[in-house]
Amino acid sequence: MDSAAPRFSAVGAGAALELRGVTRLFGALAALTDVTITVRPGERRAVLGSNGAGKTTLFNCVTGDFPPSSGTIRFFGEDITHFPPYERIRRGLRRTYQISALFPGLTVRDNVYLACRGVSRGRFSPLRPGANDALMHAAEALIQAVHLTPVREQRVAELAHGQQRQLEIALALAGAPRFILFDEPAAGLSPTERRELIDILTSLPAHIGYIIIEHDMDVALRVVESVTMMHNGRVFKEGLPHEIEADPEVQELYLGAGHE
Ligand SMILES: Nc1ncnc2c1ncn2[C@@H]1O[C@H](COP(=O)(O)OP(=O)(O)OP(=O)(O)O)[C@@H](O)[C@H]1O
Ligand SMILES: [Mg+2]
Repeated sequence: MDSAAPRFSAVGAGAALELRGVTRLFGALAALTDVTITVRPGERRAVLGSNGAGKTTLFNCVTGDFPPSSGTIRFFGEDITHFPPYERIRRGLRRTYQISALFPGLTVRDNVYLACRGVSRGRFSPLRPGANDALMHAAEALIQAVHLTPVREQRVAELAHGQQRQLEIALALAGAPRFILFDEPAAGLSPTERRELIDILTSLPAHIGYIIIEHDMDVALRVVESVTMMHNGRVFKEGLPHEIEADPEVQELYLGAGHE
């Protein structure tokens, strides 16, 4: 970690997300080694790093899909290291996946409606009068937030790739998220779809923080205020976007690594 790091990793009373010494082993392979990262509430952070750097594993540790082998993870002050994924979701943590997890045979609206119902628990119980209307209303608002209102009656299988990725963001917004992990949402997008994505991310409510894994610096640097660069499962560097972009070591390691 370089000399700029303490500004970012000071122990955060009131941090949204705090990883301390997180290591994740897969057999003999250390996918993450001693990762310490602190993210403030509402902060928007990019995680960069070449293929296999450990970015998705970092997300898996935070969500509980593959919990850490050692180290601790706090979410808004609470130690969630050993919580099952649904307990983290209940506390307002969300993620999107590198590979789509949508219902292709259902419409956009039904996908978002189901996501809203899934995270709502008792609040919108089907037995309560008006509950369904409230859910539908919530779903329509999310569809609008990700610019999919014109295609809301279409089946997901008929959507363009970029629209599917926008829909995934709507699903992550269901319920009351406080923090979202986006795993390469811009992968495979056209230049127009990228601009749309940037617009959606920058228009999210200010209290929702996120970490975005993004290979495309042009996208990443437009939608975040801080950057963590990973290499071989470790935090290699942290800084402001323009610092990271101009850093010669980052350029050599990452930009020279022949990314798609
Ligand atoms: N479930 C798993 N079982 C075994 N090894 C894994 C598993 N998940 C990840 N790894 C290994 O851990 C390392 C880090 O993988 P990870 O998917 O976190 O990288 P990444 O930075 O997301 O890469 P990419 O840019 O290709 O998505 C790799 O060597 C990968 O093969
Ligand atoms: Mg990955």
